Amino acid sequence: MSFIVAIDGPAGSGKGTVAKKIAQKYNLINIDTGAMYRCIALKALDEKINLEEKEKLIDISKQVKIELKENGKVLLDDIDVTSRIRTQEVSSIVSQVSSIKEVRLNMVKLQREMAEGKNAIMEGRDITTYVFPNANVKIYLDASVEERAKRRYKEMQEKGISMTYEEVLESIKQRDENDKHKEIGSLMIAEDATVVDTTNYTIDEVVDKVSQIIENTIETKKGNSKCE
Ligand code: DC
Repeated sequence: MSFIVAIDGPAGSGKGTVAKKIAQKYNLINIDTGAMYRCIALKALDEKINLEEKEKLIDISKQVKIELKENGKVLLDDIDVTSRIRTQEVSSIVSQVSSIKEVRLNMVKLQREMAEGKNAIMEGRDITTYVFPNANVKIYLDASVEERAKRRYKEMQEKGISMTYEEVLESIKQRDENDKHKEIGSLMIAEDATVVDTTNYTIDEVVDKVSQIIENTIETKKGNSKCE
């Protein structure tokens, strides 16, 4: 038996932070699928493979060893790449890497294996629609593009990365476009997902809302099994 909480949403919607907190609260394993695509992009950069060399990128996605540790660390072929996958260099190519159909199919296979038989929270762009369409809980986190850019801009400043707010806003808009127009795994709202707009909420308020959705699902499940 496994219990899967699936969360999708655009860049800057707060998925990563919320998933981490929910994982701790309910003792779920946390699978950040964006980190997995970032690993492929990082390996391509390290091996000086460019975006036109599709076959080589597909080979990487077939052979790569990715581990998402409980403490949040990301290991790529046994090496800790937790901070390297978050650099601007990786961010600027990851969307294109994740658009390659075969790369996605290999990552989806890995994602399903990682969650098999486990209680997990998985976040990304296509979890509620493609990876786990039958997840126990399905949530779409959203926020206005300006608010998402504001959050990313703040993060960049904290990391000492010099980008103007306008540049961040433009790059978020570009990523939204790419995320919504993939051959498979495009970002969209699943019919049966609950949409949570985080624009005017703090992280803790969003965690409370998501917790409520999870607890309602658990209660309903208990109720149904009593009736059977
Ligand atoms: O969530 P993130 O910014 O770390 O994601 C990195 C990239 O990977 C982003 O361009 C969207 C893409 N992605 C995807 O296509 N499918 C997923 N399930 C997760 C991320």
